[in-house]
Amino acid sequence: MKIQRFSRVGFIMAAAGSAVGLGNIWKFPYMTGEYGGGAFVLVYLFTIAFIGFSVMVAEMLIGALGRKDTVGSFETLAPPNKKYWKYAGLIGFNGIIIMTFYSVVIGWIFYYLIILMFGLPSTTEDAKTIFDTLVTQSPGVAIFYHTIAVIIVGYIVHKGIKSGIEKINLILMPALMLILFGLLLYAFSLDGFTKAWSFMFEPKWDKLNSEAIVRAVGHSFFTLSLGMGAIMTYAASLPKDANITKTAFIVTFMDTFIALIAGLVIFSFLFQFGASPSQGPGLVFISLPTILDNFGSLGIIFALLFFLSLAFAGITSAISLVEPVVQYLIDRFDFSRTKAVAFISSIYWLVGIAALLSYTKGWGDLFSIAGKPIFDILEYTTDSILLPLGGLLIAIFIGYEIHQDRVKAELEPEMGEKVYKVWRFSIRYIAPISLLFMMLNLMGIIKI
Ligand code: TRP
Repeated sequence: MKIQRFSRVGFIMAAAGSAVGLGNIWKFPYMTGEYGGGAFVLVYLFTIAFIGFSVMVAEMLIGALGRKDTVGSFETLAPPNKKYWKYAGLIGFNGIIIMTFYSVVIGWIFYYLIILMFGLPSTTEDAKTIFDTLVTQSPGVAIFYHTIAVIIVGYIVHKGIKSGIEKINLILMPALMLILFGLLLYAFSLDGFTKAWSFMFEPKWDKLNSEAIVRAVGHSFFTLSLGMGAIMTYAASLPKDANITKTAFIVTFMDTFIALIAGLVIFSFLFQFGASPSQGPGLVFISLPTILDNFGSLGIIFALLFFLSLAFAGITSAISLVEPVVQYLIDRFDFSRTKAVAFISSIYWLVGIAALLSYTKGWGDLFSIAGKPIFDILEYTTDSILLPLGGLLIAIFIGYEIHQDRVKAELEPEMGEKVYKVWRFSIRYIAPISLLFMMLNLMGIIKI
């Protein structure tokens, strides 16, 4: 048996560490800003509660019952005449695709941690120049920090479940929460806080369009780390008598809570000085540092703490993106852990460089396909096609294929009869239908 077991807290921190990532602290706030605030947040919370949570339980269940790498777990649990389900386990490879650009962004964060120590940009123009120079004109610098990200993540994963993944999450997750709570406490004292609160929690329905809804559903999957076997792989190492429903609930709750806190912190700072919330992906890289400059040297500390929390969140998520394929190579091809990590890391490191170059002025054309930078193509493929596809496979497998008595025996005692019925309805109908719908929509096949 090659699979080690987490401790109970270790598992919760690792799964929450996977879920809480750049998606929470970088993407959620800027999406909320772009789609007008409250109404978007409400749709997001709704999909987390009614779709995300159900799929989280399903994905955890496959891991906890299968106890193998993703391919092995699907294979073990599939009915005897349907062993082809093992191929669904290949969703783990999506983690490597995500890592190609995820590690580039972690690299940007490392860069910011260094340069912000020397001062903050005082105008938006300055801030834009810093960001644009890094992304479009300094491939060498970007590759350097991307490489550091790949090495750190690889090092942790190579240490294994117990002394790598569990250990680092037990340190970084509490640290991250402490930083964000500290910043929130300060944000309370700002006038901007009330504005941030009403921006995020008072829905303005006229701002909500169909695109915002589809993006909210998609993001609820990304933020919970669903649909690629990350949670499944971790769950293969769940302690024996763990309560899946309760664990999934805690992880979902923590992820959502931290996204909301990150949003409140960022918008409090921005609104304090009248900045606009809809800045797109540049929100935390451009607007936030500029605004924090108003706080003088305290601003530098806030900025560093904020980017540190972003780095922590990114690293703990990244290891969960790499681990499934590493576990797969160990289980199926008898790789040593070190060899598996080295192999996987070199692949996504290389493709990551192509992604990174596709944003630069000098190499952009070479690394674009049909005018689209490789970076965007990779992100689009995972977000819009592979993750929902993975979620769909998980929902169908648990909802229809696997022996239903087995699912019931596991979950009904945890949930109670009524909640179990609602969950089952969600996993059989609501989740697959909304996922399919979302996928077709994002792929441009149907339009609402
Ligand atoms: N959930 C992480 C975030 O919010 C990203 C992530 C980690 C992820 N593992 C995943 C996304 C697995 C999808 C699937 O940034």
